[in-house]
Amino acid sequence: MLVSASILDCDFARLGEEVRAVAAAGADCLHLDVMDGRFVPGISFGAPVARAAARATRLPAHTHLMVVEPAAQVPQYLEFSELVAFHVEALDDPGPLLDSIRSSGRKAGLSLKPDTPLARIEPWLNHLDEVLLMSVFPGRGGQGFIPGSLDRIRKLRRLLDRAGSATTISVDGGINPGNCRAVADAGADIVIAGSAIFKSDDYAAAISSLKCAGRNTGQSDT
Ligand code: DX5
Ligand code: ZN
Repeated sequence: MLVSASILDCDFARLGEEVRAVAAAGADCLHLDVMDGRFVPGISFGAPVARAAARATRLPAHTHLMVVEPAAQVPQYLEFSELVAFHVEALDDPGPLLDSIRSSGRKAGLSLKPDTPLARIEPWLNHLDEVLLMSVFPGRGGQGFIPGSLDRIRKLRRLLDRAGSATTISVDGGINPGNCRAVADAGADIVIAGSAIFKSDDYAAAISSLKCAGRNTGQSDT
């Protein structure tokens, strides 16, 4: 189980230190939550801060755009992101933007809110590298994991396996050591955690507990 650290709940007064600390603590990648105050109520940060965070570490940066106009925003994040994900709810046809992210040499991801049917992304499974499944309603950190998300992960895993797709599943929101194993067993490849890491007093222990809890048992969910 890979662990991606969402900086949304870090101490922004010490952003560089916080990024280096989670990198040293074993995070596999950095999750950058960009919020525009329109797609979601909150405003988090934009490209300058995201770039500073990405440049503070050698970890791959995954940018999660929670914005109403992803096509206008994506270009600013390509330079320093290994992957850029945007929300399927923001575009009728995400295909061209997914293709343009990929043609820039970056990985492309689509994110779904918890109440968006999985069928919404089916037409583009061959145009994306990752599905970012929200297990909370996007907009802030520290929320509770929506239990119904486990069934969505299982269904998405079956959908991708049936399509023979190598697309990864990442799960974002309310992840903690208590639910991480179930998320992994349901078929997730990456868990994204913010408060479970940054609200802890030992980042290495927090990340390790997510990795151990999320060790896939090798049981595919049939
Ligand atoms: C929520 C963000 C998540 C969030 C995760 O809109 O997309 O990445 O920061 O934070 P926790 O782990 O605290 O739910
Ligand atoms: Zn996120």
